[in-house]
Amino acid sequence: MFAKIALPLFTISVLAGSALAAPFNPNTQSLARRHQSFDNWGGLSSFSGFDNFYGVDNFSGEVSDQVVVEQQEEVVCQAVSIEVVQQKLLVLQEMAKQIISEQVCEVETQTVVFQQFLSSCSHFSSDLLRTSGHQVGYDSAIVSHHGSFYNADESLSTYDLGFSGSDVGKNIVVPSGSNWNSATSPASVGNAFNAALGATSSSSS
Ligand SMILES: *[C@@H]1O[C@H](CO)[C@@H](O)[C@H](O)[C@H]1NC(C)=O
Repeated sequence: MFAKIALPLFTISVLAGSALAAPFNPNTQSLARRHQSFDNWGGLSSFSGFDNFYGVDNFSGEVSDQVVVEQQEEVVCQAVSIEVVQQKLLVLQEMAKQIISEQVCEVETQTVVFQQFLSSCSHFSSDLLRTSGHQVGYDSAIVSHHGSFYNADESLSTYDLGFSGSDVGKNIVVPSGSNWNSATSPASVGNAFNAALGATSSSSS
C-alpha cells in the first residue's frame, strides 16, 4: 500500500531533480523567466507579498550560503529500514497537499506555490551529488517549527511562524556517518541518480 502510494512522490521529486540537476537558474527556468515577480500576479490578491519570501527574481530560493552550527553532541546518521524513511517522506508530501488545498483558495496560486516548493526541494539533489558546493544537511531552526503546524483539534494552524525564506541556511546541521568516499562516490551516486531517473521515466510513461 505504502509502496504504491509512494511512487508518485518519487516520480515528482526525481523529475524535478532531473530538470534541475544543474544549478537552478531562475532566469532560464520557464516560470521565472516569464514572470520574474509573482507579487499580485494576474491581479490575484492571494499572490500579494509572494516575492517577500525568497526575494524578487528568486523563485526557487536556492540557498547561497550555509552557516553550519556546531552541535553540543555530534549528529550521526543511524540507518532505519527504507520503508520508515518512505513513510515519513510521504507524510511530508501529503501535508504539502493539505496545506495547499486547505490554505490557498485561488487555483493559480496553488499551482505556482507548489512549483516553488518542488523547485526549492530539488536543490537538495545537487547537494546529495556533491555538485552544489553545499554540505548535506538541513536547517534545524526551520525544522524546529514542525510542532506548530496543527492546532489542538488537528486543524492546520493559521498564525505566522515568524521566519522568511531568507532565513533558511542559517542554522545548518550536517550529520556525520554517511559512507561518502570522495574517490568513488561521485561515480556511484551519479549511477544511482541516473538509475532513479530511468525508473522515473519508465514508470511515468
Ligand atoms: C534566494 O533565496 C535563498 C534562500 O532565501 C538565499 O539563500 C539566496 O541568497 C537568495 N538569492 C538571491 C539572488 O537573492
